[in-house]
Amino acid sequence: MMPHDVFCSATIAGIRLQNRLIRSATHESMAESSGAPSAAHEALYTALAKGGAGAVITGYAGVQQDGRTNYPGMLMMNDDSLILPYRQLTDAVHRYRTPIILQLAHCGCQTRSAVTGMKTVAPSALKDRIFNEERPHELGEGEIEAIISNFVFAARRAVMAGFDGIQLHLAHGYLLAQFLSGYTNRRRDRWGGSTENKFRIVAEILRRIRQEQGNFPVLAKINGFDQRPGGMRADEAVNIARLLEASGCSAIEVSSGTIEEGLSIMRGVKLPVEPLLACNFRFKSMPVPLKKVLSPLLPLAVPIPKLLQNYNLEVAKVIKKAVTIPVIAVGGIHTLEDISAALGSGAADFVSMSRPFIIERDIVHKLQEGRQTASRCIMCNYCAIMIEEGPLRCWYGKLPAKLAEPA
Ligand SMILES: Cc1cc2nc3c(=O)[nH]c(=O)nc-3n(C[C@H](O)[C@H](O)[C@H](O)COP(=O)(O)O)c2cc1C
Repeated sequence: MMPHDVFCSATIAGIRLQNRLIRSATHESMAESSGAPSAAHEALYTALAKGGAGAVITGYAGVQQDGRTNYPGMLMMNDDSLILPYRQLTDAVHRYRTPIILQLAHCGCQTRSAVTGMKTVAPSALKDRIFNEERPHELGEGEIEAIISNFVFAARRAVMAGFDGIQLHLAHGYLLAQFLSGYTNRRRDRWGGSTENKFRIVAEILRRIRQEQGNFPVLAKINGFDQRPGGMRADEAVNIARLLEASGCSAIEVSSGTIEEGLSIMRGVKLPVEPLLACNFRFKSMPVPLKKVLSPLLPLAVPIPKLLQNYNLEVAKVIKKAVTIPVIAVGGIHTLEDISAALGSGAADFVSMSRPFIIERDIVHKLQEGRQTASRCIMCNYCAIMIEEGPLRCWYGKLPAKLAEPA
């Protein structure tokens, strides 16, 4: 594909995008305490739209309280009172003729009771190494049914709020990914075991959304693989992609990794030790001398994947061969050359990016107008750690002295 084809309009399940570059879901730590989008959200999303993003996928929005993320300011879609503020947001983005898609999620055991005020839950009572202060509660039948209903209710609210579509978050080790992965799903009932059983919760959500909302676009973000023993592998991800298509999914975004695996989701050259020690819940309140000891040791504990660019393309390509619905590739695709290659090689129909939109909200226009050929993102990943402290922004590998100084 030639670079100019990147900037031709294209459709996903009837949604018209002005180009093939999508803002991938990115949690912003900007929501009101109710979970409503804030003025900062509106400013961000309209800037992305103005700056040329083909579509904006929101940061993940929780479908119920125990599924809230560990980070502050999560968008929620768990109450009808939220419809109106979301309507304002979608209207604002639509002024730029840019589609906006709400990502729906339940964080499962990748969160903390201290934040949600409720027990963490998971398909199986397995501790997560990052969020390991408690063993999650293994979900019962009735609780699974309630989660399915809450995804369906959230989808209904998204339709009423004027979203162009929703995206189910089935990636990165959150609850629905925990069901899909044999590493986290050890169940012996109809929700675990075979791929079909592990997929049942997603199939049910999709079936009921389809029943209620007809052909309203429902996208999914999946993991093409992770590194955990007995976890997700490409061949199973292909089967899941086929099941998604058969269940009426409109498009599949292919990602990889889990929070437990360190820098696997958003890869970078080195571990962002400075913000981790300053802000992460595990380290923040440690005495300074201990932080100093830990500082050189932390990187030794977290393996860094070798491939930093285009790391999901291989699996995206296999998935694209197996389905007819559009495939979106994400993960270290930060240059125009790589974007064109991803689209031209048949690995994907669309490319999505997260970090490039954090440092430059108008990256698409810059690429389109030839002002830049690549994102300025240095993949320091300070953004991904510092959302624990406050609103999303680019830190460009440096904290201001008052934050960097161990307390
Ligand atoms: C600060 C930050 C927040 C993120 N939040 C989400 C999220 O809410 N939902 C999601 O699916 N992925 C989330 N991601 C992952 C990105 O969507 C994307 O998959 C990943 O960063 C790799 O793409 P990139 O190389 O273009 O950044 C987040 C990434 C970052 C850096």
